[in-house]
Order: sequence, then structure tokens, then C-alpha cells
Amino acid sequence: MNYKKLFPLLLLAALSSTAQNRIVINTDLGEEKISRHIYGHFSEHLGRCIYGGYWVGEDSDIQNTNGIRNDVAEALREIDIPNLRWPGGCFADEYHWMDGIGPRESRPAMINTHWGGVTEDNSFGTHEFMELCHQLNTEPVICGNLGSGTVREMSQWVEYLNSDNVSPMTNLRKANGREEPWSVKYWGLGNENWGCGGTMTPEYYANEMRRYSTFAKNYGENRLYRIACGPSGADYKWMETLMKEGNPGRSFQGISLHYYTVCHNWGNKGSATDFGESDYFLTMSKTLFMDELLKNHINIMEKYDPANRVGLIVDEWGNWHDVEPGTNPGFLYQQNTLRDAMVAAVNLDLFNKYCRRVKMANIAQTINVLQAMILTKDDEIVKTPSFYVFKMYKVHHDATLLPAVIETELYTVNEESIPAISASASKSDEGDIHITLSNLDPGKSQKVICELRGMENATFEKGEIITAEKINSYNDFGKIEEVFIDTFNDIEIADNTIYINLPSKSIVMIQLR
Ligand code: AHR
Repeated sequence: MNYKKLFPLLLLAALSSTAQNRIVINTDLGEEKISRHIYGHFSEHLGRCIYGGYWVGEDSDIQNTNGIRNDVAEALREIDIPNLRWPGGCFADEYHWMDGIGPRESRPAMINTHWGGVTEDNSFGTHEFMELCHQLNTEPVICGNLGSGTVREMSQWVEYLNSDNVSPMTNLRKANGREEPWSVKYWGLGNENWGCGGTMTPEYYANEMRRYSTFAKNYGENRLYRIACGPSGADYKWMETLMKEGNPGRSFQGISLHYYTVCHNWGNKGSATDFGESDYFLTMSKTLFMDELLKNHINIMEKYDPANRVGLIVDEWGNWHDVEPGTNPGFLYQQNTLRDAMVAAVNLDLFNKYCRRVKMANIAQTINVLQAMILTKDDEIVKTPSFYVFKMYKVHHDATLLPAVIETELYTVNEESIPAISASASKSDEGDIHITLSNLDPGKSQKVICELRGMENATFEKGEIITAEKINSYNDFGKIEEVFIDTFNDIEIADNTIYINLPSKSIVMIQLR
């Protein structure tokens, strides 16, 4: 990938040969909403995400409410998680939901074959997940088992959660203590069915998905939003086949995309904390590939669905590093540095940019797995640098995207270049303008001139910054935080133009009125 070519950021952008950073924000031209669901999360029965992460059980010494850790729930409420995808991931296609309901002592156990071969005792099931969503005030996204389940099983799970009729599944739910239906809207029709979810061809999956979808029924007022399994990375054939043969807009309302940022390769991904500038640069350039992926997949979707009825759902994304030394390789436990924060910011800016089509995204995964928001050790928790990006970017939830033109300097390492600046701008319903900007260059601060077209007498209300001493600074147990949100004031404003000094390796949010 060579970013010396023109690189489109937001609406139109040109890399500058005159080396300056200039942004024009069209404050009066916004049309598209940035769905808050772009800021969604993903939690799988994997390693210590569910067990030890959220769930400790009612009898634990760790403070909990109905078995769910209070410290974790409180921290996640700080970032307003709009939705939570569960139970997988690969686990979803070997999960049988009926094993996870009823009295816990009589729930059958299974082996979690994908993730460490550990015994899953099913103590965290449907009711526990719905309790978690309630405590987090978040919308559930449930991924059904299309790979090793049956049409009947998925159909009954929908009925169990959503039906208020007199029916076997409604009665069973009521017998298990829940009177009212939960009316779950978002349903995944399998996960990675090209791989761990059944190694299917796109043609075969398209057929199966239509069949499963037919029997996933609407109950009452609730209209299901069914998410078909989409491609891995640049598998454009998968997207094309699903859009052509999958009955888009009727059998599915959303289609997923999975893309993980891996610094080196799958056999040797690279350390989460022990890396130099060339690995940092490689990670940033690989994560920027998301721009090309979104553009190309959206072009295919446009061809078959010009009316934009089907949303692109990036329901797994983020950094995938080597596990922390000495930890179970099947548990995918990794630390999280300022580099991860930069990756989060850049991807969120891209999802904002394509928000006409990108209707949801879910970072993998919320706690103790991959690019997590929170790490736990016994009764301690750590908020990661990525957590603080999600906290800072709350300003974009359900705001209107403001089209912008960005001219950016280049950040160059070993004769390869990427844009130095990433940015997004949005307008809230209250009329506030929020601009998020990242300076990817770890060795150089950047001056940014930002023109606010279409508004008068803008005032600076507030600024925030995330940065740290080193690109691999991180937060750890028993230590003072090295990466957090601080106040930012290094801006001047005159004649509706703002002059911003962005420190090296920083993420900044500016609020204007
Ligand atoms: O997030 C970890 C795994 O990555 C998920 O289970 C799977 O869907 C993907 O391959």
C-alpha cells in the first residue's frame, strides 16, 4: 500500500507537497448521522472475557450485582457502550443456547474447542447476558449458531427472547423467571462461516443464511435486524455473492466485515508492548487499509443496493498482537498501549467517514481479550488507552457528520509514507461541533489550520488530549496511569479559523459552539 498517492480522508483530501495541515470543515453541509452503534463492543466466551472479566457469580468476594462485577460495569458505563455482541465469534457456532438457561447447577458443560479447550460450564447464559446489557444500558447483539446448530434452534432462541404469545418458548422463559419479552433487535446469522463457522463457500452460506433468516421471526412490534456473515478483509467475492444471491434487505439488513490489524503476520504478530518505531509505523499503515476495505466493499454494496437498505457492520476489528508472555495462547490476552489508542482513533474516524453505509462496528473484545477496554486481575481493573479513546469519542454518538477536506503532511519511515493526521468532525443535536484529530507521527508535533466554513463567531468550549511519554506507554496494575484523558488548550481561534498545535503521537478532541 502506498499512501504517497492521493489519500481520501473524510470527503476529499489531498496530500500536500507544500507540507502543511489544513482542514476545511463544512459546518452547514452535514447530512448523515454517525450511528452510536459504530462505537459498539464484542464479548466472547474466550479466555477471561466473560468469566473473571464480567462474571464472577453472586457468591464471589469481588463486589458484584447479580454476579456481574461492579467495578467493570461502572467503568463501562463511563464509555456508554451502545451495543454488545455475544456469545462469539467462533464460539457462537458451537454454542447451544438451551445449555445456558435454567438452574445453573443443572446446566450441561461443554468444551470450548476454539479457545484453549477449556470446560465451559454454561453458568453465563442468556439471562445473565441480558442482565449484563441491562446493567450497562446497552443493546444486545446476539450471534446465532448457523455452523453446528439447527434452524429450529435459532428460531426458538428468537422466540424465547422476543415472544409474548402463549408458546412453548415463551412459557419456558417465564418459567425461568423472566415475564416480559426482551425484544432483541440485532441478530447475527452465524459468524465467519467461511472459516470457523463451517468452512462454507459463499454460495452455500447464502442459501443457508436465507433459510435461517426465514425462520428467525418478528414478534410483536419488534423488527429484527439480521446480520449476515460477511467477508474477511479483502474477500470481495464473498461480498459480491452475498449481495447478489443473499436476498439483501429482506433476508438480511446488515452484513458484517472482519478485519484485524496484525503488525507482522499471523505466525508472529509482534509484541503488544515491546516494539520500536518501524513496528509502530507498520501497524498504523496496516490499520489504514481499513479505508480501502470500506470503500471497496461499499462500492459492491452500492451496485446491488443503491437504496442503502443494508448496513455494513464491522463487527470484529482491532489490533491482534502476540499474547502476553506466560499466558494461555488460547486466551488472547494482550496489553494495550498508546499505539492501540491511535489505532482505535484512526478506525473510528474511518467508520465516521463512511457512516452512510457503516451502521455498526464492534471492537474485539471488551475485557481481557485482544484490544480490550478493561483488563482485570483478581479484584483489580485497569482502564486501557483504548478505553480513553472510546470515552473521548462519545461526542460523535448519533451526531451529524460534517463533511471536511483534509490536507495532511506525511509521516515517513524507511521511505514509506502515511498521512500524519486523521480527523473527524460532527455536530450534535444541541449545535455543538466536535473535532477529533490524531497526529500519528511519534516524533513531530503538527500545526493544523482548521477553517470552519458556514458558521460565524465560533467559540472554543473545551479541549481534551490523550498522549504519553512513549508510543508504547501503557496502564498497568498497581501503577499510576500513564495514558489517560487530559485537558487540552493549545489552540487559538480567529475569524472562524482555529490554529491547533497537535503534539506528537496524540489524539485531541475540540469542542466548539
Ligand atoms: O475475536 C477472536 C476471534 O477472531 C473470533 O472468535 C473470530 O470470529 C475471529 O476469527
